[in-house]
Amino acid sequence: MSAPKLIVGNWKMNGLTADSKQRVDALMAAKSAAFNMVLCPPATLINALNWWTKDSALKIGGQDCHAQASGAFTGNISAQMLKDLGCTHVIVGHSERRQYHKETSAEVAAKAKAAHEAGLIAIICIGETDAERTAGRANDVVSEQLAASVPDCATVDNTVIAYEPVWAIGTGKVASSDDIKGIHALIREKSVVKAQILYGGSVKGSNAAEILHLPNVDGVLVGGASLKADEFLAIANAA
Ligand code: PGA
Repeated sequence: MSAPKLIVGNWKMNGLTADSKQRVDALMAAKSAAFNMVLCPPATLINALNWWTKDSALKIGGQDCHAQASGAFTGNISAQMLKDLGCTHVIVGHSERRQYHKETSAEVAAKAKAAHEAGLIAIICIGETDAERTAGRANDVVSEQLAASVPDCATVDNTVIAYEPVWAIGTGKVASSDDIKGIHALIREKSVVKAQILYGGSVKGSNAAEILHLPNVDGVLVGGASLKADEFLAIANAA
């Protein structure tokens, strides 16, 4: 049997205690052991989610971390702190961090290194913008980001690569199967580590099966559809 697909939910800046508890309870009630599920809630909910899910196989991750372990960085959270709360994963280099916080691939690599040092699995996001794709630069951009965002300490056990075309995030536009196959094959070929490769960008229950069964797709990173338990379960069940 092939390895179970990794299903990651990125809640972004969504979730208060009551609605989050309901969603997590629904996931725990339905969860089958056939897939690996990681929930990445806002930092304010990590502690609660770790408590709520402590007797389940659900794993919890952060959405970002600082490159330093501690220090005078008001408002930031370190990888060590996420680990201390019971997290197993952390997303780094999400396109919203690259876009709104001007994070460079070098900074993303430093964050991934910090995650590894703290004993977390880094989910390193890469992906081209609409303009870059239209200009025929998708392969170059993905190759460049991959080379610069994955630190030397990356291994198959501590790193997951997520291909998220920026134009497909939250837009309802999914990359075509051929595009996903092409870019995932490129990442597989160029990556120095044999990490799992996730696709992200408008994944939902109705398109998950097709995406998850493409070659070199080891799972999905889900934003909007991870906020509805039934939709997220439909994605997981499609694996
Ligand atoms: P989306 O977001 O599923 O809402 O497109 C994916 C992501 O940003 O990780």
